[in-house]
Amino acid sequence: MAAKTSVLFVCLGNICRSPLAEAAFRAEARKLGLDVEVDSAGTGDWHVGEPPDRRAQAVARKNGEEIGGYRARLVTPDDFRRFTHIVALDGSNLSVLRSMRPSDGTAKLALLLDYVDERRGEAVADPYYGEEAGFDTTWADVTEGAQALARAIAAGQ
Ligand code: 4NP
Repeated sequence: MAAKTSVLFVCLGNICRSPLAEAAFRAEARKLGLDVEVDSAGTGDWHVGEPPDRRAQAVARKNGEEIGGYRARLVTPDDFRRFTHIVALDGSNLSVLRSMRPSDGTAKLALLLDYVDERRGEAVADPYYGEEAGFDTTWADVTEGAQALARAIAAGQ
């Protein structure tokens, strides 16, 4: 059973959206003085061991966060016991997480934008195959979600 609040962000490749969500949430947690553990992972294994996509690194840097030291990894069954919150960036990754959750998994599963009242059920769109500008939209989306999640955790949820 996980004690301290801990949050794992999950997308497909763990090189674009979930590292950005991790960085945005670290920043919000810092602002609110939350004592949380934070990580990110992917459901697909193509980029395991790699740093975030250079476009993700650039948008994070532009917004004051350095993510070049992050390395992609796969989500594992143990993550469901280790983390108190597992937060998916879109519905297909949430479905994968639901299907791989072990019976003794205690983590609360949700979509990132479920924490934003007006955006419940919305996905953070995958920017990987799109234009560079898509990463600014990703940053805005993950920041909105991260702020709402940090407030929810500060409120004890
Ligand atoms: P992410 O984006 O899930 O936001 O990290 C992707 C990165 C890589 C791939 C797909 C999505 N890929 O197919 O390699």
